Amino acid sequence: MSTVQEKIDLMRAKQAKVMLGGGVDRIEKQHAKGKMTARERMNMFFDEGTFVELDQFVTHRCTNFGMEKKSLPGEGVVTGYGSVNGRLVYAFAQDFTVEGGSLGEMHAAKICKVLDLALKMGAPVIGINDSGGARIQEAIDALSGYGEIFFKNTLASGVIPQISVIMGPCAGGAVYSPALTDFIYMVKNTSQMFITGPAVIKSVTAEEVTAEQLGGAMTHNSTSGVAHFAAENEEDCIAQIRYLLGFLPSNNLEEAPVVETGDDPNRMDEALNSLIPDNPNMPYNMKDIITSLVDNGEFYEVHEHFAQNMITCFARFDGKTVGIIANQPSVMAGCLDVNASDKSARFIRFCDAFNIPLLSLVDVPGFLPGTDQEYGGIIRHGAKMLYAYSEATVPKVTVITRKAYGGAYIAMCSQHLGADQVMAWPTSEIAVMGPAGAANVIFRKDPNVAEKTAEYIEEFATPYKAAERGYVDQVIDPIETRPRIITALNMLASKRESRPAKKHGNIPL
Ligand code: HXC
Repeated sequence: MSTVQEKIDLMRAKQAKVMLGGGVDRIEKQHAKGKMTARERMNMFFDEGTFVELDQFVTHRCTNFGMEKKSLPGEGVVTGYGSVNGRLVYAFAQDFTVEGGSLGEMHAAKICKVLDLALKMGAPVIGINDSGGARIQEAIDALSGYGEIFFKNTLASGVIPQISVIMGPCAGGAVYSPALTDFIYMVKNTSQMFITGPAVIKSVTAEEVTAEQLGGAMTHNSTSGVAHFAAENEEDCIAQIRYLLGFLPSNNLEEAPVVETGDDPNRMDEALNSLIPDNPNMPYNMKDIITSLVDNGEFYEVHEHFAQNMITCFARFDGKTVGIIANQPSVMAGCLDVNASDKSARFIRFCDAFNIPLLSLVDVPGFLPGTDQEYGGIIRHGAKMLYAYSEATVPKVTVITRKAYGGAYIAMCSQHLGADQVMAWPTSEIAVMGPAGAANVIFRKDPNVAEKTAEYIEEFATPYKAAERGYVDQVIDPIETRPRIITALNMLASKRESRPAKKHGNIPL
């Protein structure tokens, strides 16, 4: 019979085997690609010494293709929990050194367990994906595993923040769980996402494309919009996720953590009075305004590289997290288009689900005209913004800095879509359409068209017509915008708004 010490030694030996994953050679291969192993990633992600690993000894039950002779340490995925800046967080990291991080039945069961725990405890869950997709030998059992993860991702949506990290070549089923979560991070040059890889594409359509062109970090950050953040390397990626978590509550019943930022809530900024050019057709950088307004000029952009005519970011006002949606006049004049609508609608819904107030900064000439946009379904996509803003019950503050024309005025969180406080700078132009468009329609046959257009500008391209109707609550001096926003947010902190009971709405998709 074994002694107690022998039993302890056996446990340690078993654990040591699991810790080595796919073995030294495969770990070296992983490192040579500039990638960390799953456990190295977990240890770096969690506060030092807080990571607790679960299910180390789970094994597969597959007997197809000689699999019964194959041992897959940890089932190719490391799962567990720990602290991030002292707060509970769950995570899983697929281990590419073990059968390419491929997902089988028991690998999926380990992931499902942490999703269940995270949902019960109301804590965020981070999934680090580095996987060749469904474990081919396990056939339908692998597919069922994916299906269960998708189902649980959907149950957890809007209850706990779910963040996906792509840290390797992710194919097939490996990309759909991330797509169901709130945010996707990718690492430049070492991560790819695609439904079907370059080889399959070539055999089906004869199209030739590299893995990086097809599904690399910048492809998904700037072209497809599938990913929200791009990191320079894995260390940078992990640091960014920890930073993002600092802006978020742990679940939908909590408020985001309040941080002592040390920035004076009454701080004013003279520079804001000279930021808008005298010529209304000249661009300026909306990020300069955001920098001036928020605590310590610090904000974290979501979808920084996608639809840059719209800015979405997290920042703090007087230490409290706010989600900012802002038109960017220096890109496509800040027009709304298909991608900007998708980007902002999704961000608005995330903030609303997690009790994060919304600040909209408006300088928008309208929706981008053209067949590209119409054929691309701008009506359907633009409607998402209208829907998301109308549906949101968190405090909504809107500041109009310059143009707010037509449907885009309504769409950018006007009072009509439920903004609680609308402020306008004296440089605002709030009207049904821009002066050139108006002249083209109503003064077309008038011999004094130039004079009439000038009259239109004087009378209608101002904040005062809207203020006369009460659609603008305050016309404010730009320098005092920060204190005005903070006062409004404090006033709105106790906001309660109930809506008709329903199973769920039907957002245009
Ligand atoms: C079983 C797999 C695997 C998989 C990789 N491996 N993917 N084993 N099932 N899906 C194994 C390899 O056989 C290899 O084992 C080890 O992992 C490392 O893989 P390599 O190919 O050597 O690595 P690399 O050259 O870096 O290429 C990585 C890769 C490639 C691009 C991910 O492995 C690949 O294309 N894999 C298949 C991708 C795919 O088509 N997946 C199925 C998707 S179907 P050894 O023992 O040699 O080291 C799917 C359906 C779900 O996911 C749909 C749900 C909606």
